[in-house]
Amino acid sequence: MIETEVLVVGAGPAGATAALALSEYRIANICLTKYRSPSPTPRAHIFNQRAMEILRHFGLENEAVALEMPQALMAEQVFCTSLAGPEIGRLKAWHNHPRLKAQHDLISPCAIGDLPQDRLEPMLVSAAMKRGTNLMFSTELERFEQDAQGVTAYARNLVTQEPLVIRAKYMIGADGSNSRVAEQLALPMVGKMGLGGSLGIIFRADLARFVAHRPGVMYWMVQPGRGMGGFPVGVLRAVEPWDRWVGTWGFDPSTGPPSLSDAEATAIVHRLVGDSSVAVEIEAISSWSINSMFATRLSAGRVLCVGDAIHRHTPMNGLGSNTSMQDSFNLAWKLALVLRGHAGPGLVATFEDERQPVAQFVVQRAFQSLGILPPLIAALGIDDDRSAGAIDEAIAGLAAPTSEGATRRAAVRHAVDAAVYGFSGLGAETNIVYRSTAVLADAPALSNDDPDLEAIIATEPGRRLAHVWLTCDGVQVSTLDLCARGGFTLFTGLAGAQWATAARTAGEALGVTIAARVVGPGARWEDPYGDFARRCLADETGALLVRPDQHVAWHASSMPQDPQHALQSTLRAILALD
Ligand code: FDA
Repeated sequence: MIETEVLVVGAGPAGATAALALSEYRIANICLTKYRSPSPTPRAHIFNQRAMEILRHFGLENEAVALEMPQALMAEQVFCTSLAGPEIGRLKAWHNHPRLKAQHDLISPCAIGDLPQDRLEPMLVSAAMKRGTNLMFSTELERFEQDAQGVTAYARNLVTQEPLVIRAKYMIGADGSNSRVAEQLALPMVGKMGLGGSLGIIFRADLARFVAHRPGVMYWMVQPGRGMGGFPVGVLRAVEPWDRWVGTWGFDPSTGPPSLSDAEATAIVHRLVGDSSVAVEIEAISSWSINSMFATRLSAGRVLCVGDAIHRHTPMNGLGSNTSMQDSFNLAWKLALVLRGHAGPGLVATFEDERQPVAQFVVQRAFQSLGILPPLIAALGIDDDRSAGAIDEAIAGLAAPTSEGATRRAAVRHAVDAAVYGFSGLGAETNIVYRSTAVLADAPALSNDDPDLEAIIATEPGRRLAHVWLTCDGVQVSTLDLCARGGFTLFTGLAGAQWATAARTAGEALGVTIAARVVGPGARWEDPYGDFARRCLADETGALLVRPDQHVAWHASSMPQDPQHALQSTLRAILALD
């Protein structure tokens, strides 16, 4: 029997992030994947700012940026009948519209990018291994048992067929949408799987002449037949500009994915491109289901689930992998502190209170975003007749110099504009506010008029620490860069320097790191733009206590009589020590 502190089942974005964070926090961990390699296909790609902030925290941002397609190349979301055919309309997606771009730049030191999963996963897995994770490829978990002290997992090496028994103090089920761990735990699920079937045809072809003048990451083709989600719409997604692509078309989930020859796959690609003279090299053909399901409970005893195991949804909004990484970032520090004996097991229980509402939200948000397609189809007038003839007629109607043409143009414009909710969601990506015993909040969370599209920049308990630029020796650093890895961070102003002593004493008493950051003129960190005072700490004598996952745990609006006592009793509550 092999022993470890945490067993992570799954090495996708959720599992690899959990393993990376645990290794960073010096917690022994083993990570299993039944596959023989990281994802060989590009699946997830929209890589949002919050996920990039996690990579930045672990020192991987530069590597990720070198592997991704930058935000500017993701800009145009084009609706057309084929790449070579007439265009129906476009919008600026992924926060590239100037109105959203300003907010995008304001809220984070990181930018959104397009980072395909077959580049992200090797990077995460290798970083986790370099920092201490024992990663076992071709090793499948078969079942597990748990008792008051730990979990015993029974696995099998798929190369040698040898059985393997692993004993861990905790187990993380990061085993994806068909999670065996969630199933064995009988986690209650709400929603449905297999609502639609999609084919992903990964291919190489030089399509620069069709797209370089309107660079984007996804091109949506209105074509007859059963496309994505059952709608008469196919998608071409750029993986490497502009010669590696994924073509998406649909199939009936009740009959299962068709087995396509390369010639049949090429024919689909040619139809989406609208030019059969283009040389196409098929790399692989995969299929995926449209799901809409979330768990209402995320754990049982010492086994906790993260990622697609607890939220399964369509790729619309690109929230899956991003959310999965954040699940693990939320969980890993809690496990680390409990395993080191610095926190009570109640801290681990807050994972569920904080992440279950997020699981539910992302599933609902992604499903809602599929709703961008029916209004476009209705505006084109092809609701009842989706034939090639009807689509041609609709396109001709769009150019008609008549009042009917004007009405149709306005309706299509409206439908295309409204589609922004499927391809931009600064609020959906960053407005998460945690409520649990690991956050001391005494007011309801702030809200705004458009919580999906618009981010809220605020520092309130439960919310991620607001990013503002400070300087250190004149060099720009983000407030997020000052957050300790695996420890707490206490921010205060010049007049609050007493907090630094309180942080040291409280940290020593509880055995946890509390890094103090005094911000102001002449201090190590300065606030030359005044944004720290404006957005983070109105009263210089106050303090912000930030958790290892960069969410604010507590806010003291001014200096109390005994700051050390205030801090220590707050931490005891957060760490579930009382
Ligand atoms: P994931 O499924 O990735 O990994 C599961 C892991 O568990 C694998 O390592 C597997 O080997 C392992 N495993 C399973 N059972 C096991 C067992 N019994 N024993 C051992 N190991 C086991 N998301 C996003 O954020 N942005 C995007 O743009 C997109 N786009 C996108 C497009 C398409 C076409 C698809 C299909 C999906 C997306 N997604 C996405 C979603 C994204 O791919 C998905 O949310 C993540 O892969 C989920 O990560 P997990 O780590 O939870 O599971």
